[in-house]
Amino acid sequence: MKIAFYDTKPYDRLWFEPLARERGIYVTFYETRLNKDTAILASGNDAVCIFVNDDADEDVLWILNKIGIKTILLRCAGFDNLDLKYAEGKFNVLRVPSYSPAAVAEFALTLLMSLNRNIHKAYQRTRDFNFSINGLMGTTIRGKTVGVVGTGKIGQVMIDLLQGFGVDILAFDPYPVEGLKAEYVSKEELFSRSDFISFHCPLTDDTKHMVNAETIGLMKDGAIIVNTSRGAIVDTPALIEGLKSKKLGGVALDVYEEEDEYFFEDRSNDIISDDELSRLLTFPNVLVTSHQAFFTKEATKSIAETTLNNFVAIMKGEPDPKNVLCRAE
Ligand code: NAI
Repeated sequence: MKIAFYDTKPYDRLWFEPLARERGIYVTFYETRLNKDTAILASGNDAVCIFVNDDADEDVLWILNKIGIKTILLRCAGFDNLDLKYAEGKFNVLRVPSYSPAAVAEFALTLLMSLNRNIHKAYQRTRDFNFSINGLMGTTIRGKTVGVVGTGKIGQVMIDLLQGFGVDILAFDPYPVEGLKAEYVSKEELFSRSDFISFHCPLTDDTKHMVNAETIGLMKDGAIIVNTSRGAIVDTPALIEGLKSKKLGGVALDVYEEEDEYFFEDRSNDIISDDELSRLLTFPNVLVTSHQAFFTKEATKSIAETTLNNFVAIMKGEPDPKNVLCRAE
């Protein structure tokens, strides 16, 4: 049993190597991402394993199909980087639907708190022996209103964590969950009433650019936005305008629409050609992290276990394996 891993970093080996050995699986780790030029590297394997910024579009899937790959293992929850329609009937595609909703929700809350209290600036100042607190004033969260967009696994943990904060919690989701300790309202009402808004919905046609000039216009002056879901939820030029006009009080982004060029890579010696990313990073009230909300020991171990178990289930020909997005005929 052989799997070719794409877009790997040293930390991917931490769990995948020993857990694959335990299961008798031979793994090859490629640093390169999956794309039209690199798909051929998977020849001779039973499966490819990909991550959020690998490109599994129709052209790439065509090549994988031609070289005999039947199984694609997503070591993540989201699958917007894979052409599922084209894959249907040709590939077994399996994912890790949930590995640690708590890891992501805890990180979203960390971003919200850090940005609100300017921890990112304080950290830099004190390392420079600058102990001034001018410009570091935040807002007391207790008594404020927090909006949670998307009340699936991560959104629900976020709401749970927020219970201790003494805040009013608003929620929006086309599929409300019964018994959740939050007030479901329309998207527009959530945007207009919230002091803090955290996004936990998937990227779909409906959610693409959900944060745009119009919806930013609905928001409270000084609203703080946290996005740990997918970058394209936000229309970046509109966000930049919202920051320039001081309509928005701050923005924390763990994801970015054009992140695949930059995130997970060290680009500190490069000339950055993405003017929007560069502009975002000039704002003192913008905190950008590099898609690391999932990145805990527990979550990465759980990802490796589920991914490898998904593979074993397919190889054993289990009739009804879990976590399947589509099946090969
Ligand atoms: P989930 O599938 O459990 O929940 C998503 C929720 O969003 C569902 O309740 C769904 O009804 C809702 N939703 C769908 N369309 C919506 C819309 N138009 N407006 C509002 N809500 C909508 O997914 P989960 O596990 O909670 O993950 C949420 C997202 O978080 C994922 O899709 C993924 O993009 C992102 N994620 C980010 C990670 C990171 O490291 N930054 C790690 C894991 C997930």
